[in-house]
Amino acid sequence: TGCDAVGHDLLAWYDAHARVLPWRSPPHTPAPEPYRVWLSEVMLQQTTVAAVKDYFAKFIARWPTVDALAAAADEEVMAAWAGLGYYARARNLLACARAVAARGGRFPDTEEELRALPGLGAYTAAAVAAIAFGRRAVVVDANVERVVARLFAIEEALPGARGTIREKADGITPEARSGDFAQAMMDLGATVCTSRAPRCLLCPLSAHCAARAMGAPERFPVKAPK
Ligand code: ADE
Repeated sequence: TGCDAVGHDLLAWYDAHARVLPWRSPPHTPAPEPYRVWLSEVMLQQTTVAAVKDYFAKFIARWPTVDALAAAADEEVMAAWAGLGYYARARNLLACARAVAARGGRFPDTEEELRALPGLGAYTAAAVAAIAFGRRAVVVDANVERVVARLFAIEEALPGARGTIREKADGITPEARSGDFAQAMMDLGATVCTSRAPRCLLCPLSAHCAARAMGAPERFPVKAPK
C-alpha cells in the first residue's frame, strides 16, 4: 500500500468529514489551545465522546485556563469529575495542571517533555504533541489500532500485535498535519471502520485495505483466545 497515498486520502476525507467537537478546531485553522487538547484527551481515556462533551464544557467554563484549574481546591475538581469515573485520572489531572502552572502555565511542546508531566502516558503525550503543537507523533488508541490492523491485515493477535501495529502506524503517519491525521484515524475508527459492521463502501482507505481485499475486515484485529 502506498504510504503517502494513505495519508493523502485520509486527510482529504477528514477535510470533508471531520466531526465537529468542542475541543477541536476545524482542518486548516490554527491548532486549539494545548490546555483544551490535554483536558479533552485525559477525559476521553476510557470515556466516550458523547459522555465527555458536557464535562468538557463544564470544566472550561469553570476553569478556563490551566492556571485556573491548578488553583482549584482538590474537592471541587473531584466533585466536578464525579460521573466520569476512573478517579485517579482526576488526581493526575490536578497534579499535571499544577506542574504546568509551576512552569509558567505553558505546556511543553515536545512529546518527550510532555511524557514527563504527571499522569501523561505515551498516548496522551503523543496526542497533545500532534494535535496542539503539530509535531509528528504516532498516536494509537483502540480505534486507530483497529484501522491499522485491518489496513495491513495483521494476523498477529492482540495484545502481542501492538508493536507491529505501532510500526505500521508510524509508516503511514505523514510529516505534515500529523494532528489532523491522528484525529482522522480516530474518526474513521469511530464512524466507518467500526468493530462489528465496517462501512467499507464509505471508507476513503478501502482501496488500500488488505482486510477488505480479503473480504474479511471484521476478522481484524485478531484477538488472543481467552
Ligand atoms: N478520542 C480520543 N481523542 C479523540 C479526539 N481528539 N477526537 C475524537 N475522538 C477522540
